[in-house]
Amino acid sequence: RRGASLTDLAEKIGVDAASLVQVLFHLGEMVTATQSVSDETLEILGAELEYNIEVVSPEDEDRELLESFDVDFGEDLGDEDDLAARPPVVTVMGHVDHGKTKLLDAYRKSNVVSGEAGGITQKIGAYQVEANVDDQDRKITFIDTPGHEAFTAMRARGAKSTDIAVLVVAADDGVMPQTIEAMNHAIAAEVPVVVAVNKVDKPAADPTRVRGQLSEYGLVPEEYGGDTQFVDVSALTGQGLDELLEAIVLTADAALDLRANPDMPAQGVAIEAHLDKGRGAVATVLVHRGTLHIGDSIVAGSAHGRVRAMINDLGENITEAPPSMPVQVLGLTSVPGAGDNFLVVEDDRVARQIADKREARMRAAQQAKSSRRKTLDQLFEQ
Ligand code: GTP
Ligand code: MG
Repeated sequence: RRGASLTDLAEKIGVDAASLVQVLFHLGEMVTATQSVSDETLEILGAELEYNIEVVSPEDEDRELLESFDVDFGEDLGDEDDLAARPPVVTVMGHVDHGKTKLLDAYRKSNVVSGEAGGITQKIGAYQVEANVDDQDRKITFIDTPGHEAFTAMRARGAKSTDIAVLVVAADDGVMPQTIEAMNHAIAAEVPVVVAVNKVDKPAADPTRVRGQLSEYGLVPEEYGGDTQFVDVSALTGQGLDELLEAIVLTADAALDLRANPDMPAQGVAIEAHLDKGRGAVATVLVHRGTLHIGDSIVAGSAHGRVRAMINDLGENITEAPPSMPVQVLGLTSVPGAGDNFLVVEDDRVARQIADKREARMRAAQQAKSSRRKTLDQLFEQ
């Protein structure tokens, strides 16, 4: 397990932790019994003691748990013949105030920006937009992320559940710290980036400078011989908005095989969740594969329940959500964590069992962490 200490290992293999400390000391590593050690150290120790130590990541552990309930998460898309095209999922990222939410407002003809406290996006939003590209009606799913530095984790989560990243850079401000951070999240997630150079209506706008700055970080515009599309836009005047949609669709069609089987039990990710006074736990989920239906038994992280109602991004009640559709789900017994996977299972009993196991595991991990912290604190007190 990640974050395991020599004490944990000692318990597992039934030896005394102090002797493990000594063995490592002789191998040239100084660690205390309660300090968490790297996977590598554990493996070295295993080899020395002739134990076969297998380090299992939390993800693998969870996969094993699901497999024990005959649930396969993620990989298997079913029969090639059953796959159907699905809309691209596009995460909008960038520095605070560079116009991410305003851009989506322009597409949706809505006004989310004016309703936000201090004009700062606090949670991930998800919307579907209709685009007409080459006389074809295409849907695009957009995920709006906060640009403020406090929201690193949310951006990382956004990047993970996404097909394409749109990096919004205000042409007057240019490249800023969260621009780079957002770009790095996209690169780490191996997601193609389209750059929207926004606010070109402003007198101080300098779109050329933005191209130069990002080139230095490896995002080289096509017009400079690179392979990144840059589109000048203004969320205020509407300039370039159609071109941006076109660039997104082009990127999706050229580089990605965006298909999913709509007939499987639904799986996806919870991108935001909260407790609503009247409605209970409300989770915004993004369906990756399959179709989510009212009445489905679901697990999301360590929350479980049955889908009681679903609400789309226009506030309408719907009865099913196909791949790539973001939807608010009511009916969970507790609030899942943002970024938790969600999946439909056979029945409520299985849903509860998986949720309970995850919950117990989480509690154990937390306990291990806090007891470790305690012993370290005691060390420093002496
Ligand atoms: P965070 O969510 O806090 O990271 O900000 P954001 O990137 O979502 O920025 P937001 O859309 O809230 O826009 C910030 C401010 O810039 C608002 O006052 C917008 O009206 C303004 N703005 C956004 N796009 C444009 C544009 O193209 N031109 C001009 N002139 N102003 C814009
Ligand atoms: Mg915003």
